[in-house]
Amino acid sequence: MNKAPHNELLGKSPEFEALLRSLDIAAATDVTLILTGESGTGKELLARYVHENSRRSTEAFIAINCAALPEGLAESELFGHAKGAFTGATTENPGRISQAEGGTLFLDEVGEMSLDIQAKLLRFLESGEFQPVGSVKQRHANVRLVAATNADLCKKVDDGSFREDLYYRLNIIPFHVPPLRERTGDIRLLIPQITQRLATAYGLTAPNYSEGAMKYLASYAWPGNIRELRNLCERMLILFSGKEIHEGNLPQEIRHQQTRRWTFDLPDSGIKLDQLERELLQQALEKSQGNQSKAARILGLSRYAFMYRLKKYQLQ
Ligand SMILES: Nc1ncnc2c1ncn2[C@@H]1O[C@H](COP(=O)(O)OP(=O)(O)O)[C@@H](O)[C@H]1O
Ligand SMILES: [Mg+2]
Repeated sequence: MNKAPHNELLGKSPEFEALLRSLDIAAATDVTLILTGESGTGKELLARYVHENSRRSTEAFIAINCAALPEGLAESELFGHAKGAFTGATTENPGRISQAEGGTLFLDEVGEMSLDIQAKLLRFLESGEFQPVGSVKQRHANVRLVAATNADLCKKVDDGSFREDLYYRLNIIPFHVPPLRERTGDIRLLIPQITQRLATAYGLTAPNYSEGAMKYLASYAWPGNIRELRNLCERMLILFSGKEIHEGNLPQEIRHQQTRRWTFDLPDSGIKLDQLERELLQQALEKSQGNQSKAARILGLSRYAFMYRLKKYQLQ
């Protein structure tokens, strides 16, 4: 249905390709899937990809954001309601599950669902049955569920805000969608491709990114992932259509945030690596009160590698 080229998934990194191949396999079955990953990594687009590559592709794809469902209306939104079920229910509402009949239901931010709705969803997943609000009749729907979350559901199970039984029911095949910064080579690939798509949509000429600018972009951490990348491409297209973009044209947060956070920041004045290594070895020995195995562990070294360094600096 939605096979327009602008919906095509971009990315050629081995991390992303591996994910697509696993999704291809899962898409061919009716198994419940859960996509985990940071916001903006493409979970909704991937849920559509699963639907489009499944036997259900000619039927509906219905997406619901559980975090955006108003508390009192969530149940009727999902399961529907009978006419007159509550004040304002002047007509019958089939609900989203019924609308997805034969197709795929995408539950985004599933971790935000209330415990009450979780119980009803679990029942539906196990039996295919549900009861619209204010109705005495059971309904049945044939729906494939794809869920997504950027929250740690395990933690939510621990603190009691997510049902453990539903967690296991959803977690049959979990898929982790990698953040953009962990997709090798994809930033450099996506920038010109997304820019070109946007340029066509706006009727503008795409700008060109200089190698200097590209270096900054490629090492930036992209906390908002592809959504953030797309927004930046759009802003740069509007401001620099047809021009060359240099590093000085990039927004502050990209030029100044020292991108991938290092565990140690190399000062501009430089360091003496040998001296630093020697001091670290000495500190580790002090902390472990001379216990060499423990000192090696503190430094993340094998005992052998640690001993080698002690000899090198004549610390033994
Ligand atoms: N692989 C991709 N190729 C092209 N655009 C993508 C890709 N993944 C995500 N996007 C775009 O990034 C934005 C965020 O994607 P979305 O699926 O809503 O992320 P999430 O649900 O993980 O927050 C959307 O505009 C989407 O079209
Ligand atoms: Mg989303």
